[in-house]
Amino acid sequence: MDTATWQARRGALRSAVPDGVILLLGNEFAARNYSDNTYPFRQDSHFLYYVGTDHAGMAALLLPGGKEILFGAPEHPDDVVWFGPHPTLGDFAAEAGMGHFEPLDDLAAILAETRKHGVPIHYLPPYRAANRARLADLLDVPLGSVNDGASPDLIRAIVAQRDVKTPAEISEMEYAISCSALMYRTAMSVCQPGLTEARIVGMILGVAQMEDLQPSFPPIVTVHGEVLHNHGYGNTLEQGQLLIIDSGVESPGHYCSDITRTLPVSGVYSPKQREIYDIVLSAQEAAIETIAPGINNREVHLAAARATVEGLKAVGLMKGDTDEAVAAGAHALFFPHGIGHMIGMDVHDMEDLGDAVGYPEGEARSDQFGLGYLRLAKPLLPGHVITIEPGIYFIPALIDRWRDQGQNADFIDFKAVAAYKEFGGIRIEDDILVTGDGARVLGTPIPKVPDDVELMMVRD
Ligand code: GLY
Ligand code: MN
Ligand code: MN
Repeated sequence: MDTATWQARRGALRSAVPDGVILLLGNEFAARNYSDNTYPFRQDSHFLYYVGTDHAGMAALLLPGGKEILFGAPEHPDDVVWFGPHPTLGDFAAEAGMGHFEPLDDLAAILAETRKHGVPIHYLPPYRAANRARLADLLDVPLGSVNDGASPDLIRAIVAQRDVKTPAEISEMEYAISCSALMYRTAMSVCQPGLTEARIVGMILGVAQMEDLQPSFPPIVTVHGEVLHNHGYGNTLEQGQLLIIDSGVESPGHYCSDITRTLPVSGVYSPKQREIYDIVLSAQEAAIETIAPGINNREVHLAAARATVEGLKAVGLMKGDTDEAVAAGAHALFFPHGIGHMIGMDVHDMEDLGDAVGYPEGEARSDQFGLGYLRLAKPLLPGHVITIEPGIYFIPALIDRWRDQGQNADFIDFKAVAAYKEFGGIRIEDDILVTGDGARVLGTPIPKVPDDVELMMVRD
């Protein structure tokens, strides 16, 4: 991205929210255990999108008449000691194409003046406590009411603008996926019984680090794929187990990849594993085939759910009418999450703005178990980039609960399911571009057909 891009984006935002001032707050370093020992810096994605400055402790103000001011720390004479030659605030403003720059300490006074004249201040709901506190000070409001004061107009305008990705943004995501491809090929070539999950994590993150890319979220690498948010890496891989790897990286411009593959630890899927794997793959294919402009992503989710039910009926784990089973949410015993989410600068793109991203205004999520976890249920447009990540999991506690309560007993053969309680889980996830007439799986292909995965894992 370049100066003209950031200027054009701000211009479009200004046109969409013509009144008042727009305040965009960049992130600060977050302290780990004392203030000088910080987590790796991650700039706020909205700030990156509109200003582009990947530097901590900044803010931008877009004034009604078109004046734009970048705020940051003024230069200290000793900065050169700690940071060497580096861009100044003026350099950052010039690169962002902003005509003015001011010390961050002056921002509060300018905002106070704005309030005095009754000019509305549009800002986004903060997702970090530190930014909530900064906003409370800047706006002179109680901490507890900062989020309530966020601007629905600004949220709507930003969602509309960041929603559809440009070719430059898509190529950033494909760059991230090319690194993911290296990571997965590495995992497939080293995965074997006796290694710990942590070893696999180390090797895939090592690949990312060697490419100088950061993860887009802490990777899930587990032989207990049925625990959906499993972030421990302490297990040792055993013959016959499945290993789920759900990971992603950020491109240099901070666009994300989010990929999942499920490997047979021993290099070959057992017939039972292959049967379930093929169902997940068929669900992913059914979902991708359903994608087209104008199709609501809920339909994409339901296509995956139907394919899951069809497959599970074929292996004797489900029964009854497929459409009725899906309408009842019976598939959610095995596929309890949504088919996917928007992806962009955030791995769950703009999720800090809540369901304004995934649901049309005025539409609430379903209260049905499973469907209620669907993050995206709006009509798809060319240029949307979404993940498609169906899965089948055998969650012992959930199976027991449903069996004991007789939940969806018309559609589930609980006796047959009992034989799968040690199975674990399988998920397959790719990042998909909605095109003018369908969908394209983004990036370097990463083996996912069982024969191809096994081929990558062959040891000589
Ligand atoms: N890795 C998070 C997700 O797949 O949504
Ligand atoms: Mn993922
Ligand atoms: Mn995902």
